[in-house]
Amino acid sequence: MTQQAEDNGASDKDVCSICGGAGWVAVRDGRTGRMSVKTCRCRMAERLRKRCNVQPSQLERYTFATYKPEQCHPYKGDTQKDVIAQMGKVVKACSAYAESPSGWLVLLGKVGSGKSHLAYAIAGKLLERGVGVYWDTVPELLDHLRNGYKDNRYMDLLQSMMRVPALVLDDLGAEQETGWVTEKLFQLLNRRYMDRRSTVVTSNLNIRNSEVKLDARIRSRLLDRRLSQVLTLAAADYRMEVAA
Ligand SMILES: Nc1ncnc2c1ncn2[C@@H]1O[C@H](COP(=O)(O)OP(=O)(O)OP(=O)(O)O)[C@@H](O)[C@H]1O
Ligand SMILES: [Mg+2]
Ligand SMILES: [Zn+2]
Repeated sequence: MTQQAEDNGASDKDVCSICGGAGWVAVRDGRTGRMSVKTCRCRMAERLRKRCNVQPSQLERYTFATYKPEQCHPYKGDTQKDVIAQMGKVVKACSAYAESPSGWLVLLGKVGSGKSHLAYAIAGKLLERGVGVYWDTVPELLDHLRNGYKDNRYMDLLQSMMRVPALVLDDLGAEQETGWVTEKLFQLLNRRYMDRRSTVVTSNLNIRNSEVKLDARIRSRLLDRRLSQVLTLAAADYRMEVAA
């Protein structure tokens, strides 16, 4: 184990293979030959992790490696084999999105089907690759915005959510619908829609159904085939199936 790793209480496996844990790398300018010092990708990722609104323990717990399609149970009608195959495809698509997060990714599914787990896994991968992420559940995000009114941080917060390279909105549909809520969500999503910024949305709502309780303009943008990839998780509630 290196001295640096020992100081950090980390194992060799955790030490960055690019900078060896130093946090910086020396780079030579190809044209002038001059050397300069740059912050290493691992240090950038560490800074981004502090700002993403996710606990490090959650990023460690909910990864692609810990998501097991073979442990998924069928919801109804499907066989276990079908669900495992479908969830294998969903994980592949989520992992591809984390590698190249273009457009929007919408994860739909029943309670406990693994939406948040996969959304955390995507966020973790993006952060590792140096992409800035902000994560929030929709009800909490709305609370953050409401609280922002008190200390005038409201506009800053909304703007930063509009502009962050990747936004994860977990649990769309779990919020109490009011005119203000719909307006704020529309403002945020519409800005990101127009700028085509990477956005992951999870929901228990079956937004494909036009009867669903969701603002029609938000629904239309989430279902825009030119921008958005919509994946349905066919798995049953993992919490109950595993316990059974
Ligand atoms: N295939 C799986 N392999 C391993 N763990 C899983 C799997 N599916 C779900 N889990 C675990 O089950 C729990 C519920 O998953 P998760 O929170 O992602 O569900 P959800 O779809 O977001 O549910 P909700 O609608 O209640 O928010 C989590 O602890 C998650 O890690
Ligand atoms: Mg969830
Ligand atoms: Zn490094």
